[in-house]
Amino acid sequence: MSSVKLASGCDLPLLGLGTWELRGDQCAEVVERALDMGYRHIDTAHMYRNQDAVGQGLKQSGIDREDVFITTKIWQDALRYDQVMKQFQTCLDLLQVEYVDLLLIHWPNETVPLEETLRAFDEIQAADRVRHIGVSNFSNEQVDRAIQLAQAPICNNQVEFHVGHFQESVWRHCRDHGVVVTAHRPLAVGAIANDATLARIGGDHNKSAAQVALRWLVQRQIIAIPKASSEAHLQDNMDIFSWTLDEEEMKRIDLL
Ligand SMILES: NC(=O)c1ccc[n+]([C@@H]2O[C@H](COP(=O)([O-])OP(=O)(O)OC[C@H]3O[C@@H](n4cnc5c(N)ncnc54)[C@H](OP(=O)(O)O)[C@@H]3O)[C@@H](O)[C@H]2O)c1
Repeated sequence: MSSVKLASGCDLPLLGLGTWELRGDQCAEVVERALDMGYRHIDTAHMYRNQDAVGQGLKQSGIDREDVFITTKIWQDALRYDQVMKQFQTCLDLLQVEYVDLLLIHWPNETVPLEETLRAFDEIQAADRVRHIGVSNFSNEQVDRAIQLAQAPICNNQVEFHVGHFQESVWRHCRDHGVVVTAHRPLAVGAIANDATLARIGGDHNKSAAQVALRWLVQRQIIAIPKASSEAHLQDNMDIFSWTLDEEEMKRIDLL
């Protein structure tokens, strides 16, 4: 699978599995199936209340821990130093792993000094319990502050980004500062599958509207983490690397 290089030098697969709203046995089964199909990047969060199931799915797959990139996030009500330390340990325990690959601040919280949160993140990273750190739903100004305050590189900003919600300034700003963007809600929670323009463009490539929407992201080196629960959707979402959208198609989609 194609990947993008993080500021810390590691490769992050351009496609991941989103897991919001997947829970329990269903979540474990979807994670296992996705890993069997070739997914190597799973996105979860403390707030999703599914890390135990994600860990279970990883175990069931039999795939080596080191071969899977796992992202988790600290919720915005736990950004004090002690709270981060406690919630992060809970994440490891639920996932049943020794480390996570990427730890994000899930949402900014202006009532907690960012330096306090990042001090905890830096310590966790220095102790090799997390390989990379980053943020989510941060504005350009907040990203700049995080870069200034953290010892470790801020590798990633995970933001809502999809056709019809083209956050060009965030994308350009992050790119210029070595921060990879991950698109959450890359299919606008499924709504994009019905877009007539994307379906028409997809028709020329023998692909669906959803596949065009994901291709539009990864062609820009933006990481896409669609959530899918059916085997057909999981499979479709992987089929975005062996074909390309031309410049004119990319521009038409930008304007939607
Ligand atoms: N950092 C944050 O604040 C934040 C916020 C929101 C989301 N996220 C992350 O981003 C991930 C993705 O966002 P999301 O789950 O909200 O929405 P999404 O990925 O944009 O859309 C998911 C919906 O699209 C459907 N779908 C998947 N593949 C499809 C395909 N090929 N054709 C047609 N429909 C398809 C799914 O259906 P089925 O399930 O039936 O397959 C599901 O209903 C989340 O799961 C979570 O990991 C992060």
